[in-house]
Amino acid sequence: MKNDKVNVAVVGVGAVGIEMLRVLRQRNFPINVLRVFARSAREIKVDGQTLDVEAIEGADYSRIEIALFAGTEGEKGAASLYADKFIKAGAVVIDNGADFRLKEDVPLIVPEANPDAIIGHKGFIANPNCNTIQAIVALAPIHREFGLNKFIVSSYQAASGAGKGAVSGLWEETKELIHANKDKDFDNIQKKLTGEPKGFSHQIAFNVIPQIGSPDKDGYTSEEWKMVHETHKILNDYEIKISSTCVRVPVFTSHSEAIYFTPRKQTSVTELEELLNASAGILYQSDELAFPLDAEGTDEVFVSRLRKDPSEENSYWLWCVADNLRKGAALNAVQIAELL
Ligand SMILES: NC(=O)c1ccc[n+]([C@@H]2O[C@H](COP(=O)([O-])OP(=O)(O)OC[C@H]3O[C@@H](n4cnc5c(N)ncnc54)[C@H](OP(=O)(O)O)[C@@H]3O)[C@@H](O)[C@H]2O)c1
Repeated sequence: MKNDKVNVAVVGVGAVGIEMLRVLRQRNFPINVLRVFARSAREIKVDGQTLDVEAIEGADYSRIEIALFAGTEGEKGAASLYADKFIKAGAVVIDNGADFRLKEDVPLIVPEANPDAIIGHKGFIANPNCNTIQAIVALAPIHREFGLNKFIVSSYQAASGAGKGAVSGLWEETKELIHANKDKDFDNIQKKLTGEPKGFSHQIAFNVIPQIGSPDKDGYTSEEWKMVHETHKILNDYEIKISSTCVRVPVFTSHSEAIYFTPRKQTSVTELEELLNASAGILYQSDELAFPLDAEGTDEVFVSRLRKDPSEENSYWLWCVADNLRKGAALNAVQIAELL
């Protein structure tokens, strides 16, 4: 970028798009002109500031230098339909969706892990999946220092990971059940919704859903395979054995992960603690528990409960939590824009 200030576009004003607008302001990103796009034109308010949203179809995409895409994925998603047009008009696109992450000429970046992957980009850069980003921030220093033979992740993912409709679904279901039970004794309460679920394919209020994404190869889901393929690409290490189970939980924001890992080189809890304490983007808490409620609205990946598996050589557990809308999406994308 030649000038000090750049023309920035944000595409999508859902859960991630709004957080992007917030992160750009909070980090004093050097913006000359800010344009905001969605499917339809309207005014929105972000933290008291009114912004004009332009309809993306048929808009003038010229003079935009960085375009942060947070539109829906797939054929009708913003990146599939419009990213090329923005790039041809001169912008660099940073996309939050999964459509292009694994393409060979698309850098997939977590700035704490592989910032150099941005060199030689062809105008399109991808942000990894929220679930992958926080695991990478926690594991990249361990991979760099000791190598990783394998890791297994069980994730406890917040409703906002599925967008603003899912958040209101969790809220509506919770209100409905509380309202239905307001005069009942605990022994007689109604725990299941009587109508259709409101945020996901199954009820999320007072429940967990042990499937995120669509069913995919070998009984795993698309979300679970993202952890495997995206990690291999970001760490540029295709030998790491990775397996995961992704679960949706009734939390509004911040994903949690229990990660079991086996470094290649022999290490210890003390060495790992020192490393995590000194690593960018991590808030290591040796004596405290990391809660999703505390991570919400913050930038760090909180890591706690580091411990050795007493039954295995050189294998460990850690617990990590991060705001899926910030480090898992908007913040990581803005950090990539800062690298540019
Ligand atoms: N939520 C997370 O934690 C998270 C984390 C990492 C990555 N992501 C990815 O980030 C993207 C956005 O997710 P989200 O959670 O913010 O979704 P969301 O809350 O459902 O919002 C989607 C937004 O995208 C806009 N949009 C959809 N199709 C569009 C199109 N063809 N052209 C222009 N705008 C379009 C919508 O416009 P209208 O408002 O006009 O309908 C809406 O503002 C998705 O690809 C998602 O997979 C999300």
